[in-house]
Amino acid sequence: MRTRKTALILAAGKGQRMHSEVKKQYMMIFDKPVLYYSVKAFCDSSVDNIVIVTGAEDVDYVREEIVEKYGLSKVSDVIPGGKERYDSTYAGLMACPDSDYVLIHDAARPLVSVKVIEDAILGAMEYGAVAAGVPAKDTIRIVDDEAFSRETPDRRYLWIVQTPQAFSYAELKAAYDCMRKDRSGVKNITDDAMVLETYGGKKTRMIMAEYENIKITTPEDIELAETFLKSRCFLKK
Ligand code: CTP
Ligand code: MG
Repeated sequence: MRTRKTALILAAGKGQRMHSEVKKQYMMIFDKPVLYYSVKAFCDSSVDNIVIVTGAEDVDYVREEIVEKYGLSKVSDVIPGGKERYDSTYAGLMACPDSDYVLIHDAARPLVSVKVIEDAILGAMEYGAVAAGVPAKDTIRIVDDEAFSRETPDRRYLWIVQTPQAFSYAELKAAYDCMRKDRSGVKNITDDAMVLETYGGKKTRMIMAEYENIKITTPEDIELAETFLKSRCFLKK
């Protein structure tokens, strides 16, 4: 039987740290919005369909000005998300019940490559749960409330976590259902691997991604993304 792979692109955030008029996922890099690049990479991959989760007020805009305008034909649905990132993921999971594997990706990571997406799919098939990431290059220090050094973990065990994260649909959905019953401990959940770990009791394996796969968060990230994209276009010529 064929396995069905769905990508959920999360674009329902407010982008508060960007302090811009236009939400960061709709800001232009060269002549196209950030969200276009994130979705296009998945269109060029082997996923079967793509669900975009966005703000209720932006559903029409995304459908008309991004999906239709650029012919992103693998997009099967554009749906409203929720208050927190995990609410948006849950809305996405509810929209693709026929999936065997689900890949979850931040719309704010427009530099994701098709290779990283394919590695995430293979990883999910092998391990059931994987997250893209890169080993930390810097020393990372844990500090106290006054910024005094408390501990310096061994760098060999530190990875920077990115997306996509890819899972067996049934396992992730079960963990989410469990989280929605018991919302204690939900406060520090920042990604889907944490949901699976906390509520599904399953470990996520890290897979090597790319340092370029940055998350657009503050204004200088837009410039950085432009620089990376420019060098890609240059390499293609
Ligand atoms: N996201 C979402 N629904 C939410 C919150 C976040 O779909 N309720 C998405 C964002 O649109 C983004 C991704 O999750 O693509 C990663 O989140 P983050 O970088 O934190 O984006 P924002 O929450 O929008 O930004 P900020 O935290 O600065 O407000
Ligand atoms: Mg956020």
